[in-house]
Amino acid sequence: MSAPPPKACVVGWPVDHSRSPLIHNHWLKKYAIAATYERVAVPPRDIEGFLTSLARNGYIGCNVTVPFKQAAYRLIAHAEPMAERLKAANTLWLAAGRLHGANTDVHGFLANMDEGAPGWRGEGGPAVLLGAGGAARAIAAGLADLKRQPLRIVNRTPARAEALLKELGIDGDIFGWADGARALDGARLLVNATSLGMRGAPPLDIDLAPLDPAAIVADIVYVPLETGLLAAARRGGHRTVGGLGMLIHQAAPGFARWFGRWPEVTQELRERLKRDIGGG
Ligand code: ATR
Repeated sequence: MSAPPPKACVVGWPVDHSRSPLIHNHWLKKYAIAATYERVAVPPRDIEGFLTSLARNGYIGCNVTVPFKQAAYRLIAHAEPMAERLKAANTLWLAAGRLHGANTDVHGFLANMDEGAPGWRGEGGPAVLLGAGGAARAIAAGLADLKRQPLRIVNRTPARAEALLKELGIDGDIFGWADGARALDGARLLVNATSLGMRGAPPLDIDLAPLDPAAIVADIVYVPLETGLLAAARRGGHRTVGGLGMLIHQAAPGFARWFGRWPEVTQELRERLKRDIGGG
C-alpha cells in the first residue's frame, strides 16, 4: 500500500476565518502536488500536546496563528534567526524528527511592500508604525533590518511600544494616539499594524494631512480590502499597499519548505481571496 499523501495544517484558536487553507490548497492544485492542507482548531490547553505530536498525527508541518506564535517558539527545537529575534514562530516543520520553526511575517511584509510600492526600500525619511502587538513587532524588525530611521511608534499603550523597542534592540520614538499629528509630521511611510479599521473593530481615526505628500501608506488589515485608512490615503494622493499581499507572501516559505517548490503569488490567487473576503 502506498503512503498517505503528506499533510500540513494551520492551527489556531479560533481558526475558522484563516485563509491559509485557501492559499495552500490553491497552490497544491496549481502545481498538481498530491498533499493536503487542513485547518485545525486547538484550544490553548492542548496546543503543546498538538505541536509535540505533529508527526504522530501525520503532519509534516504547520502554520501557527493567533494566539499560539509565542507558544510555538517555546516548543521548537530549532528556531530560524527571525523567529529567534521575534520570539515567535508561525511556520513549523519536522527535520530529523525535531520541530523547526521560522517567522515568515517579516518576509510577508517586505515582499508585499516590494510588490505594492516598488522602490520603497531606497526611499528614506521618517517611518511611522501604528501598533505594538505581534504584527507590529515583525514590521519593526523588518524596517530595522533595512536601517529605516527614524522610526516612530504610535500605540495606545506606550509601555508595549517601549518593550518592543527594547526587546528588538532598536531605536525609535514613542507616541500616544493623542500625539498622532506630531508622529506623522513629514513621515514618508505609514504602516497600520493595529486591528483598527478591521471589520467589526473600531475605525482607525487619524488625520493624514501631516504626512509628507510623497508618503506611502500601508495597512496590514485586509478585511475589508479597502480600509478607511487606505481610502483616505488614496484620496490624499498617496501610494497605498493593502494587507492581502502580506498574508499571501507570508505563506510562501512554508509551502516551499513542506512541498518542495516556491509558489507564485499571482493575480489569480489574489482574486480568489478577494472573492472569499468579499463574501464575508
Ligand atoms: P497582533 O498580534 O495581531 O498584532 P495584538 O498583539 O493584539 O495583535 O495587537 C493589536 C494592536 O492593536 C496593539 O497595538 C493594540 O494596542 P495596545 O497595545 O494598546 O493594546 C492595538 N489596538 C487594538 N484595539 C485598539 C483600540 N481600540 N484602540 C487603539 N489601539 C488598539
